[in-house]
Amino acid sequence: MKSINRTFSIAPMLDWTDRHYRYFARIMSKQTLLYTEMVTTGAIIFGKGDYLGFNEQEHPVALQLGGSNPQDLARCAKLAAQRGYDEVNLNVGCPSDRVQNGRFGACLMAEPALVAECVDAMKQVVDIPITVKSRIGIDEQDSYEFLTDFIDVVSASGCQEFTIHARKAWLQGLSPKQNREIPELNYARVYQLKQDYSHLNIGINGGITTLEQAKEHLKHVDGVMVGREAYHNPYILAEVDQQLHGIDREVITREQVIEQMLPYIERHIADGGRLNHITRHMIGLFQGLPGSRSWRRYLSENAHKTGAGVEVVHDAVSAMLENQ
Ligand SMILES: Cc1cc2nc3c(=O)[nH]c(=O)nc-3n(C[C@H](O)[C@H](O)[C@H](O)COP(=O)(O)O)c2cc1C
Repeated sequence: MKSINRTFSIAPMLDWTDRHYRYFARIMSKQTLLYTEMVTTGAIIFGKGDYLGFNEQEHPVALQLGGSNPQDLARCAKLAAQRGYDEVNLNVGCPSDRVQNGRFGACLMAEPALVAECVDAMKQVVDIPITVKSRIGIDEQDSYEFLTDFIDVVSASGCQEFTIHARKAWLQGLSPKQNREIPELNYARVYQLKQDYSHLNIGINGGITTLEQAKEHLKHVDGVMVGREAYHNPYILAEVDQQLHGIDREVITREQVIEQMLPYIERHIADGGRLNHITRHMIGLFQGLPGSRSWRRYLSENAHKTGAGVEVVHDAVSAMLENQ
């Protein structure tokens, strides 16, 4: 089995970490492990579209699955491995009602034996890593013992890699967005887990916004997963390889990132796609710099128009430069 470097990864984010975002992210960092949005087993098995498509450039790339039926998960994991994914990750962290009705996501933390069965079923049919992303607890079940019971049972099924969103989820009463903000972060609990389970690969997630913070966390755990910051301020990725992986390479400029996106955008449009499918993920590229608002605004106002092509991207750069 080829080993995957899990030092730094981008979190699975529904509607955000689609193949276009991942292509964009990969231009900035060659080492970062990229997660897809969560794809449900139902969508893969019964859906009409292709939910497993990705660009070859995206490797290493992990498919995140949502589901709790071991046979369905095994079937989807097998398809994922055949398509060339490097890893399959099971979502045990999403608190949305829709997901709870399907009995998967964060509510599965209360059913470690079922999660273990799911992992086992997937491991039987593929030889890529099967990993789990969870919270530190759910509702009133937020003791350290609750978390370690979960890890004990699930790791016994052969899962070696866990990414833990360092806050619990309230399954009733909070929206998914509130569940990413209101329950308090408890990094110490994830550090403790790594101390007690040193043989497992433990990654931490939640509220991490700088590479300095990532380095601090890496003193305690094996990996750092970043979600929202990597989306809203994607240029943070430009120094991941140098700062976290010690790679001696010049840091790519924002302009070079755009240049490398242009042929990809042109191909997408030639294939009948729309410009804003891709540029909506690039809106944060100049985050924090003078002119970033003009860039954002120009793209938002023009990229969705019928017939919009790469000239809109060039014009957005000009608008930004004029307002620096
Ligand atoms: C728009 C959005 C969509 C998300 N979708 C998923 C998902 O599909 N699967 C999942 O496990 N977590 C999902 N999450 C949670 C993130 O993976 C991550 O755990 C969370 O945002 C905390 O990390 P952060 O503080 O670095 O953003 C989503 C988060 C956001 C903001």
